[in-house]
Amino acid sequence: MATIYQATASAPVNIAVIKYWGKRDTKLILPTNSSLSVTLDQDHLRSTTTARADASFEQDQLWLNGKVDEIKAGGRLATCIAEMKRLRKETVEAKDPNAPKLSSYKVHIASYNNFPTAAGLASSASGFAALVASLAQLYNLTVSPSILSLIARQGSGSACRSLFGGFVAWQMGSDPSGNDSLAVEVAPREHWPQMQALICVVSDDKKGTSSTSGMQRTVETSALLQHRIKHVVPERMAAISKAILARDFDTFATITMADSNQFHAVALDTEPPIFYMNDVSRSIIALIVEYNRVSIAAGGGYKAAYTYDAGPNAVIYALEENLKEILQLVISYFPQRPSEFKDVLGLFSKNTTDINTHAKIPAGFNEAVAKRFEVGAVKGLIHTRVGDGPRRLPDSESLLAASGLPK
Ligand code: DP6
Repeated sequence: MATIYQATASAPVNIAVIKYWGKRDTKLILPTNSSLSVTLDQDHLRSTTTARADASFEQDQLWLNGKVDEIKAGGRLATCIAEMKRLRKETVEAKDPNAPKLSSYKVHIASYNNFPTAAGLASSASGFAALVASLAQLYNLTVSPSILSLIARQGSGSACRSLFGGFVAWQMGSDPSGNDSLAVEVAPREHWPQMQALICVVSDDKKGTSSTSGMQRTVETSALLQHRIKHVVPERMAAISKAILARDFDTFATITMADSNQFHAVALDTEPPIFYMNDVSRSIIALIVEYNRVSIAAGGGYKAAYTYDAGPNAVIYALEENLKEILQLVISYFPQRPSEFKDVLGLFSKNTTDINTHAKIPAGFNEAVAKRFEVGAVKGLIHTRVGDGPRRLPDSESLLAASGLPK
């Protein structure tokens, strides 16, 4: 029987605390500034990808969530696949004459996100990271995650940070080839496992401006972006890396919120202006600001940090010990559909059927900072934590059937 060359991998979502926004090279996807993110746990949010190489396949083909996704010549998918084949050829086949010439075979790739696209969570980062990770396993590559990040970056910039778990920096680099624009680990998840995240999925009917086109417009028109690139991000990268290494949540939170604010300020400074946050997003900011104020007034420190990407969803970073209080506060203003919330990390007792019964506002909190919204304004809450990098999965998890088509 002929050998089947196949591998399945999963990769995580990452949410930046220092935002990537702007390219100096749109083809190679080289950024105008370095960025830094926290990798979220794949137990909750992940992309899973199976890649198979076979001499009988007639073309490279990809299925996303069961549907054919066209691999356009010269496009991002085609580039990533071609780069992975090149790595296989150069690092394996050129060195071992007996290694099967997998780089000359076409591939079939099936990918699946376990979170709905409608949730408005970026799936391109975990998706391209899983694509690269599955091909690296299929091709038996022994290169480092940083080398793989060079290729994932060409699929989607933020994807390069999903090749590592924990706390990850994307160093912008300076070489025109892009060979020094890669992801590095700042600290593994085990360094600060208490770091958790609450994703507030905010309803959004209108089709927003994509990251790719939005950031290009910002590069072309925003004077504030030039100030950010030169005078703000370098200092913040150094300071937040240091804060992570020292497990200093106060500094981590201050910088995270300031950087989210500045990213949305450069979006607004774009011509024509881009708005990603809505009234619900802004009310969540008001809640977090007041929540921190109460804690600081009582002699404590920051307890939560908000951050927003190119959409209205809030991601709230906080330490484990404060998550229950934060969730109780959020549901006080944003009631949930009963049993909508999946208490995967066990904040409440097992027999909780209606999360809304746990609504509670901390003592001393000024309730007038925001109005109470209707059910559905925040249509879902996902509680997760810092997670690991791409995983190799057993063949039983394969998304391709024996025929080489999606199961
Ligand atoms: C706001 O990585 O989606 O999430 O490189 O064009 O694919 P492309 O853009 P993408 O942009 C992400 C922007 C962001 C900030 C971040 O993740 O750093």
